[in-house]
Amino acid sequence: MKWSAEAPSNIALVKYMGKQDSFLNIPTNASLSYTLNHLVTAVELEYDPNLTDDQWEPLEQLNLSPRGQERFLAHFQFLKKYYDFDGHFIVRSGNNFPMGTGLASSASSFAALTTVACRALAELTSSKQPSVDELSQLSRRGSGSSCRSFYSPWSVWEGEQARTVDLPFTHLLHDCWIMSEREKSVSSSEAHRRVKTSPYFEGRENRATQRIHALTEALQTQNWYRAYQLTWDDFHDMHRMFETALEPFRYRTPGTDQALLILQDYWDEFGDGPLVTLDAGPNIHLLYRPDQHAMISELRSRFQTQLQDPKA
Ligand code: PMV
Repeated sequence: MKWSAEAPSNIALVKYMGKQDSFLNIPTNASLSYTLNHLVTAVELEYDPNLTDDQWEPLEQLNLSPRGQERFLAHFQFLKKYYDFDGHFIVRSGNNFPMGTGLASSASSFAALTTVACRALAELTSSKQPSVDELSQLSRRGSGSSCRSFYSPWSVWEGEQARTVDLPFTHLLHDCWIMSEREKSVSSSEAHRRVKTSPYFEGRENRATQRIHALTEALQTQNWYRAYQLTWDDFHDMHRMFETALEPFRYRTPGTDQALLILQDYWDEFGDGPLVTLDAGPNIHLLYRPDQHAMISELRSRFQTQLQDPKA
């Protein structure tokens, strides 16, 4: 018997960073994200009564590290326990985006695994099929940010529950400037722990809540410049906590900072540009309105020429 499902990735504009409860993955602060519906993970499950353990296999384009496979199968184990089911499966997963897109695939992969596993396990145990809210809450246990991927295009996550928010700009274009493809030295789980020791952690919950209100209003009133400022401030807020933790760490490279200046200059020159954000990594995520389509390649070529020759 086989089941399959897909789920999209998402990018946060007000970031989730720090956990109130690391077992349940309850965040310290609320977050707001845009769902990237074109970047998906597919997961296929094959139930085989003869297997003695679960095993992972790649679908196309994905090579999960041993640590990644372990985390993925541990979440599957958690879901089997939730449904009180003992049998074993082959779990196959793959992304439609190459690893080099700068996107961590944990949001889409955990959302897809939760969706397909709950569907299969509900069927095999003659249980009720789960609601989207239930899927999102279960997925959160495997990867916090994955709970937002169930709601589209805009999603807000607070406490145990994520939900859709109705906002304009429903067809944004996503681009990512890759600054480094090296595996990060500090995982996001470790980052969630260390930020708590930063002096800036105090007040973070309030700052994030206020930013979500302000960003919601900016998007509702189509104030793109204000949305850019708030998004910019929020990723700096998060990176400042990384860099001022008791054991400080840094994801931004000199190239990241230089590229951020190119983006700032562009905004200063034209009074328009993309929304800019960084996750727990050095790569720069950009969101453009559909009418800014030509700006994507224009900014990319500035990035390529100016980074090669900083004086250009
Ligand atoms: O879902 P996790 O535990 O990998 O956390 C990721 C958090 C950030 O990507 C840095 C921010 C966010 O809100 O997605």
